[in-house]
Amino acid sequence: MTDTSFALTGQEREADLELDQLKQLVGLVPYDETQDVFPVTGWDAIVFICGNATQAAHFYQTAFGMELVAYSGPETGNRDHKAFVLKSGSIRFVLKGGVDPQSPLHEHVRVHGDGVCDISLEVPDVDRCIAHARSIGATILQEPEDLTDEHGTVRVAAIGTYGDTRHTLVQRNDYAGPYLPGYVERTSDLVRPEGAPKRLFQALDHIVGNVELGKMDEWVEFYNKVMGFVNMAEFIGDDIATDYSALMSKVVANGNHRVKFPLNEPALGKRKSQIDEYLEFYTGPGAQHLAVATNDILTTVDHMKAAGVEFLETPDSYYEDPELRERIGKVRVPIEELQKRGILVDRDEDGYLLQIFTRPVQDRPTVFFELIERHGSLGFGKGNFKALFEAIEREQERRGNL
Ligand SMILES: [Fe+2]
Repeated sequence: MTDTSFALTGQEREADLELDQLKQLVGLVPYDETQDVFPVTGWDAIVFICGNATQAAHFYQTAFGMELVAYSGPETGNRDHKAFVLKSGSIRFVLKGGVDPQSPLHEHVRVHGDGVCDISLEVPDVDRCIAHARSIGATILQEPEDLTDEHGTVRVAAIGTYGDTRHTLVQRNDYAGPYLPGYVERTSDLVRPEGAPKRLFQALDHIVGNVELGKMDEWVEFYNKVMGFVNMAEFIGDDIATDYSALMSKVVANGNHRVKFPLNEPALGKRKSQIDEYLEFYTGPGAQHLAVATNDILTTVDHMKAAGVEFLETPDSYYEDPELRERIGKVRVPIEELQKRGILVDRDEDGYLLQIFTRPVQDRPTVFFELIERHGSLGFGKGNFKALFEAIEREQERRGNL
């Protein structure tokens, strides 16, 4: 079997990540790319459309510790919008905001608020992917084309996924620029707080998509058939207590498991589902949370809190529950350290994970972040759903949306 999964991607090499570290961080698995109908190497970039990208770029640098690496805007000949490219480890965020009053980006913000418009993926062969997607009847939003500048050529195309979200496919084996043609290198004069680690997270673990009631299985099938994604062992459809924010969730992943997409749909419960709240305020399906992988969640939480990032609170009863203590066993730090910060723990047959969730990071109760530190567990924190949903419900209630 040809095993290509245990090779670093260009972005991972650039970020000085190591294979063993990455296997633990995001749970890579070996697989045979030659048997894949739609080979995906990993994430290329997460593109956000923001009401004010200039200020969002500041937020992700100061609060998330990310580094400004590239830019496109009026000064570079792009009169429509500004775009800031930020990195942390192998993660790349692109923040776009309209400059021209007629920019179509303004309409995206009016409809959805700040959000993710493009989950862009790196692929070894754009044309092969598009040919397969077309044969299954997927929506091709952009036909394959070459983009060239003095740094080389990238080949790109795009297919549609849930809502107004797309997957741009990027083949960049022949490109040495800071992001894509049209972008110039740009750094920031920002001075990091003393004692701050080089970065607060190293890689992207998963992005959750919220879709409408009854649509989850359709999107699972889309990822299976169009993009050759596999269903991950953790299918959590039946596990979610109906007394709490009811939802159904299934997880698909690309062959090497770098790219993982849990897909949620609301379920009928006693109270309004958190997924319904999202769908109402995002005006339809979209990306709900982005989980970023860190190898030191305690330090990351401390720095993000000091920079003003707000996290969901976990009640003391969570940590004092003898059943939880029994279930999670021994983890790398005393449980009191987790309790102090509100970090959740989950354990399964493969190991454990630590996780914590931010409050929504924009005005609408839509997109938020998860920090995750994996120690063998390849799950998504199933054992924490009850505690997590109770915390989300408290927030929903405060917003008057329960
Ligand atoms: Fe998650």
